[in-house]
Amino acid sequence: MTQRLGVVGFPIEHSISPAIQQAALDALGIDARYERWRIAPAELRAWVESLRGPDVLGANVTVPHKEAVVPYLDELSPTARSIGAVNTIVHRDGRLLGANTDVEGFARSLLEAGFDPHGADVVLLGAGGAARAVAVALLGAGVRRLVLFNRGLARAEALAALLGDQPGAGQTTVEAYALDAPALDAHLAQCTLLVNTTSVGLHPGDSLLSVERVPAGALVVDIIYNPPETALLAAARARGARTLNGLPMLVHQAALAFQLWTGREAPLGVMFAAARAALP
Ligand code: ATR
Repeated sequence: MTQRLGVVGFPIEHSISPAIQQAALDALGIDARYERWRIAPAELRAWVESLRGPDVLGANVTVPHKEAVVPYLDELSPTARSIGAVNTIVHRDGRLLGANTDVEGFARSLLEAGFDPHGADVVLLGAGGAARAVAVALLGAGVRRLVLFNRGLARAEALAALLGDQPGAGQTTVEAYALDAPALDAHLAQCTLLVNTTSVGLHPGDSLLSVERVPAGALVVDIIYNPPETALLAAARARGARTLNGLPMLVHQAALAFQLWTGREAPLGVMFAAARAALP
């Protein structure tokens, strides 16, 4: 029986997960088809129930459903539980387990780039769903200071409070500010890692920081992968800073999900190549 997998979202047309996952399944000769499921919020509960079918291995979950699926699952991994968001569902014998591989995917992308976050001073731009996964990964990696800046201060403060409840929180100083706070420049000057998790940068030319404000001595990460070089990363490159886009995080979260579904080691090289080929 051909097994089924897929990614659920709304909209979902632009997801490159099908290209990445199908390439990995094919490379390992696994008889499974990875689909694209466009499901509106009102249909989400019925969709989750459909995953209990005997031919379904599991699913990826993307915007806007990562938090909404949580109450419909039977079990959560510790990471998914602590951040309240699921990007991977694993179906085992009628039970649905929710996991979050974005967290470890981000951590692996940093290590692969040769950056050890332990003891780092970090400026994190944004406080939405993606920021939560990145922040939990950084806390878990033992950064020294994590300073959150968000357009809306309340959301940054809520994320700081959530981080205070995480295991290992004691070794990291967490602060939260509005994006227009004067503290941003001093923290930018000090940081060794700057991460943009906001959607600013999806449109070519848009950046939250002018070129002069980008820290030349830091690793500058933008979790956006399309365009491959956002205006922030272009500014960082112009300043001589090291840069990293969101493609490695995307591929590593995909590889970790693949391993949960199949129990097989993911063919990372195949997945990277498929991701690059699928991008415009
Ligand atoms: P995701 O799941 O991708 O993180 P999200 O939860 O909608 O998406 O979060 C989007 C993030 O981008 C938020 O931090 C948002 O800031 P607010 O919380 O203040 O809305 C940020 N963002 C989006 N557009 C922005 C803009 N024009 N300027 C500054 N920040 C912006």
